[in-house]
Amino acid sequence: MLFPVSVLLSIAVVVVVDGGGRDSALPNCVGSPSTYQRRVGNLACPTEAVCADEWNTVRDWYNGTRCKEQRIIKHCSCPGNHDCPVGNETHAFYANKKHTQYLCEPRCRIDKCSTTYRAAMEMVQNSPEFQGHNFYRINCRCRGHHFPMDSRRGRLMRSTSYMRVRFNFTQSVTYTQYRCASEGPATNGLLAENDPCQPM
Ligand SMILES: *[C@@H]1O[C@H](CO)[C@@H](O)[C@H](O)[C@H]1NC(C)=O
Ligand SMILES: *[C@@H]1O[C@H](CO)[C@@H](O)[C@H](O)[C@H]1NC(C)=O
Ligand SMILES: *[C@@H]1O[C@H](CO)[C@@H](O)[C@H](O)[C@H]1NC(C)=O
Repeated sequence: MLFPVSVLLSIAVVVVVDGGGRDSALPNCVGSPSTYQRRVGNLACPTEAVCADEWNTVRDWYNGTRCKEQRIIKHCSCPGNHDCPVGNETHAFYANKKHTQYLCEPRCRIDKCSTTYRAAMEMVQNSPEFQGHNFYRINCRCRGHHFPMDSRRGRLMRSTSYMRVRFNFTQSVTYTQYRCASEGPATNGLLAENDPCQPM
């Protein structure tokens, strides 16, 4: 069946906007929730902790109005009491196309994951390093951290996927661990020869 060109164009535009979340042609949402929130005061980040999460989505009111919505949640401050470098590509780890995590450490300072790495990312619960709070730690770089994955309809794609839970009974700390997520049968989610980082 043939569609008029205008219909095809509008379908294409919808797909691009929904997939990206950063479409510059859309206005920013008015009255978005506060952009910055500190979740647990101004604690210093543990090593390789995620210091902030950023979500860029498109809000659709289903009345013809759509707008760009950005949410940033900061978790901790970087060494020297510096602010988490939100928006700085050098420090960005893509969780997927709409969700970016930031570390105080530059991305290329972090090892790339290998098959022997214990976990690409872990949520550390009840951490003595973080005054008993929880935080996410990125131990190594996956392919998706550099080349953000796009969610498909009905399937959320992320650079990491759930692996297992570990307990340390000495410290009463729980580690919920994630491995690099595969995109398909051809890859295991690891960076092969296409590592954008130069050896440091
Ligand atoms: C659609 O709804 C939103 C939220 O109520 C409102 O801000 C916006 O002006 C509406 N757009 C139109 C075209 O009515
Ligand atoms: C981004 O981070 C890098 C590495 O830490 C730093 O050299 C650079 O100045 C930062 N860029 C901005 C715009 O802050
Ligand atoms: C549990 O934590 C203690 C204290 O930090 C550490 O010495 C020990 O090696 C950890 N045990 C395991 C199994 O990781």
